[in-house]
Amino acid sequence: MKMWTRCLRLLVDAGFEPGGTTMVELGPGDTLGLGLSAMLYGIAHYTGLDAVPYARDFQPQPFLDALGKVPITIEAPRFVRRVTGTAYENLRQDLLHRLHYVAPWKPRDVAPETADLVLSCGVLLHMEDLASIYRTTYEWLKPGGYACHWIPFTAMFLSPHWNGHWAYSDLEWRIAQGRRPYFLNRQPMSAHVQAAKDVGFDVLTTQAIPATGGLPLSDLAPRFQQMETSALTTRQVRLVLRRPVG
Ligand SMILES: C[S@@+](CC[C@H](N)C(=O)[O-])C[C@H]1O[C@@H](n2cnc3c(N)ncnc32)[C@H](O)[C@@H]1O
Repeated sequence: MKMWTRCLRLLVDAGFEPGGTTMVELGPGDTLGLGLSAMLYGIAHYTGLDAVPYARDFQPQPFLDALGKVPITIEAPRFVRRVTGTAYENLRQDLLHRLHYVAPWKPRDVAPETADLVLSCGVLLHMEDLASIYRTTYEWLKPGGYACHWIPFTAMFLSPHWNGHWAYSDLEWRIAQGRRPYFLNRQPMSAHVQAAKDVGFDVLTTQAIPATGGLPLSDLAPRFQQMETSALTTRQVRLVLRRPVG
């Protein structure tokens, strides 16, 4: 719920209104909790798309019932109403018609210009072809539709230093990846912003969280030493994008 209300706040500040809309989430992981939270705030149709079917056995009905009991959070923008009463009962009855899950997914699993919102949390750092994913999501969105992506740039479990992933040579990185179905693409914030702009998105919000500490520049692999200062000092970003209306 918290992740959704954080995204919703940014989206509403950028002009998005959730009521009656259609949302696609990339990489929901092992629950569809974010999608169900979104439905409690008015999203009418939700599709979760994952590379690996972690949520195959997820039971949405009991999860929705549990979420429905969570007290109304002060983090949600005040004028966005949570679905209650008859609307909540209708959502419960219709849930399985309004919620879809596809894993693994293909671009054609979402028809062009049918989504009002594409959202991801901790997923775009795993996608190797940024140009392709920004293009695909742009094509899914209706003109005027929004995207919201939370992207961390940290080394995760691959280093004790937040920027330690940029210290590996390309060969070392391939060895570390092994046969994992997805890994870190090691792309900095600027690569995401550029890829989004290149396909035509308007970049409405770039909420970057700065990093402190980490390995000195001289310890990074040569190609990462060339990155601009903002990339070298940003540990995560929340991006809000919009497909232009016209
Ligand atoms: C770190 S988990 C994040 C899960 C969830 N979004 C969360 O915030 O807890 C990364 C997710 O990205 C998914 N993922 C990786 N590559 C993907 C791709 N090409 N398309 C869709 N999902 C992908 C993984 O399967 C996994 O569910």
